[in-house]
Amino acid sequence: MRRTASIAALLLGALALAAPAFAVPGGIAPVQPESPNADAINDAYWIVLAVTGVIFALVETALIVFAIRYRRGTRPRDQEAPQIHGHGRLELIWTVIPVFILAGIASVVFWKLPVIQDVPSAQAAPNRLEIHVIGHQFYWEFRYPGGAVSYDELLVPVDRVVHLTVDAPDVDVIHSWWIPPLGGKIDAIPGKTNYTWFRARREGVFLGQCAEYCGLQHASMLARARVVSESAWQRELRGSQTTLGKSTFDNVCAKCHNLEGPQLIGPNLKGNSVLADREQLRNIVENGRGKMPAVGAGWTDAQLDALFEYASKEIAAGGS
Ligand code: CUA
Repeated sequence: MRRTASIAALLLGALALAAPAFAVPGGIAPVQPESPNADAINDAYWIVLAVTGVIFALVETALIVFAIRYRRGTRPRDQEAPQIHGHGRLELIWTVIPVFILAGIASVVFWKLPVIQDVPSAQAAPNRLEIHVIGHQFYWEFRYPGGAVSYDELLVPVDRVVHLTVDAPDVDVIHSWWIPPLGGKIDAIPGKTNYTWFRARREGVFLGQCAEYCGLQHASMLARARVVSESAWQRELRGSQTTLGKSTFDNVCAKCHNLEGPQLIGPNLKGNSVLADREQLRNIVENGRGKMPAVGAGWTDAQLDALFEYASKEIAAGGS
């Protein structure tokens, strides 16, 4: 009776642990891949899961069967089991089989790796788009050909190879770029340049998150890729430059500063005189101060001007 109760308790416990994993949309499946490199990651995941799943089922079944079939029963507690130490053939078998299994799993991963890792060359994808992704405490900066800039939201055309050059300013820390539907993680490291790529199959917004703990506001370092048609891309990117100042404030400053009301990490900014003085503003965003990181390290004058324009008019002056 007590045994039945403890078995039931164990099963319930296992179910309770597994339930959250199955409850989320898609269950234990990775997010729906939307790019060839994400497809390859997805394939590798399912193949490895299938192999390890079969092994898990075999081992657990054997464990349960043996536990029941060979339970002690009336045998004395100190009775020894047959000793098989030095059984060469047996030891060989249980070494060689796992070696083959691991070699099989490794082969699958190496077979998929080129698609995941290798950026299609400029020859293979003549109209590929080059975008510079920069990880900052605590936002993502994107630089497009022709000088356009955006923060936190990467705007890209559908069905085109996008080649990402990923790094971080020398004064910053390590971040990790990751939009799961569009491929694997790649670290944004000060002083080192990494590369990755994707080709989004459909239009939509794909969400991601900085995947390397990088400080107080790591959890707010969200990223998203918005995929639009080729013609909309040109138009929207150009249009977004006219509101770059507001976008800078919302995505860069507002991670740590409220305008008014309860204070976030830094002081509230409504009416702040630093925002009304271009030189002071430049100094603080380029160099940081106290707990504030150098959020504007590497910015162009145009980027600083955009923020200054917006902040001096809309925030320092106390306007809406
Ligand atoms: Cu950037 Cu975590």
